[in-house]
Amino acid sequence: MRVRQRAVIEVSGRELDDVLEEAGVGTPVYVYDADLAVKRAREYLEAFSWFPGDVHVCYAMKANFNPHLVEHILSETRAADVVSLWEMKIAVEAGAKELVVNGNAKSDDELRAAILNSWIINVDSMEELRRVERIARREGERARVALRVNPEIDPDTHPHIATAVEESKFGVNLRDAERVCRAMIESEHVEFLGVHYHIGSQITELEPFIEALRSVRRFLEETGLVEELRYLNVGGGLGVPYRPDEEVPRPKDLAEALRDDLRDLHSESPGFDLYLEPGRSIVGEAGVLVTRVRQIKEEGGRKWIFVDAGMNALIRPALYDAYHEVVVHGGDYLETEKASIAGPLCEMGDVLAEDREVPVNVSEGDLVVFLTAGAYCESMASSYNCQPIPGAVVVRDGELAGIREVQSYDAFRNLWE
Ligand code: LLP
Repeated sequence: MRVRQRAVIEVSGRELDDVLEEAGVGTPVYVYDADLAVKRAREYLEAFSWFPGDVHVCYAMKANFNPHLVEHILSETRAADVVSLWEMKIAVEAGAKELVVNGNAKSDDELRAAILNSWIINVDSMEELRRVERIARREGERARVALRVNPEIDPDTHPHIATAVEESKFGVNLRDAERVCRAMIESEHVEFLGVHYHIGSQITELEPFIEALRSVRRFLEETGLVEELRYLNVGGGLGVPYRPDEEVPRPKDLAEALRDDLRDLHSESPGFDLYLEPGRSIVGEAGVLVTRVRQIKEEGGRKWIFVDAGMNALIRPALYDAYHEVVVHGGDYLETEKASIAGPLCEMGDVLAEDREVPVNVSEGDLVVFLTAGAYCESMASSYNCQPIPGAVVVRDGELAGIREVQSYDAFRNLWE
């Protein structure tokens, strides 16, 4: 008799093979559990429900803009954080009633769209404010603006995703921010609402969030701007567990950590609403990338498992040294050995996972699944080496709720027609 410890991936209560078979899609493919994304969105809304003003959870579209998935998230939050015209379009089509517009180099078209739709613009600099004013004047509108401030907090995360360090390209540091806020207040072409900040992404400690809020609070009090405050946007940034034993703070922990400062601030300035922009913590755990083993190779004392997607589908390991847990779906984990998993791209960086325990009998055709791939994976996919963009399947309440096939050659080639 053999005892098997079979690893089985389930999505929205269904076994992965079953979902793929019904969807009729090949690999590579992202598979999403919309129930989980919706649950996380609700957690945010519930966690901050004690806040005395209105709370706006603006889902950060950049984390995952798959329209089939976004529509479920936005049915909860009704609000989104966008950084481009196409994110605006997808968010609105998917049901967003309110957008906040971010970015350090927004185009005139993006600013115009924001102004014409009365979406809030998180202005990045004095120079951008002048451009917003020009466009608003031309359109005969008043733009609704806030200033993105840089509280100069260095969270413990990868340097590429720490956005509020001193030399950051984003926002205006707190020493210079009052001048820009006053210019907004005096301007006849804009309506000053308040301030925005976002300190970075994949932050797994609460301390940097508390520190950032305290320094922005101090800034608002010392400058007297607290009296003008109608909008406070604390950004996104809460991390997700990428490793099986990792504990991360959840929305309720974040809400608890910020509670006293937010309450005090609200009692000093009862007119302001709270905005948040979470992305990863809503979709990160709700997605997996499913690949198939093409080839197994043993060379130089090392075992390689080559799968049918590489850094084109999962760039995070190459770009941020990120770790994604790997599971051989249906694999027998009773007897394992170490192997590295890589894609087919002609680049040494195309290694998706180094030295992982995999079943000894893993073979060609097996499904290798990368976990916690709901955020910044599909949205960062590319066609490098003329690899197809993977397909995507969304499951909601155990039913298929949206399917995109693996990109075809015709669809790819048509980009140049
Ligand atoms: N708000 C602003 C202004 C942002 O720049 C970002 C993310 C968010 C909100 C959402 O942050 P989240 O809650 O998802 O951490 N590609 C990288 C992450 C880049 C994050 C960019 N900004 C990665 O794969 O780790």
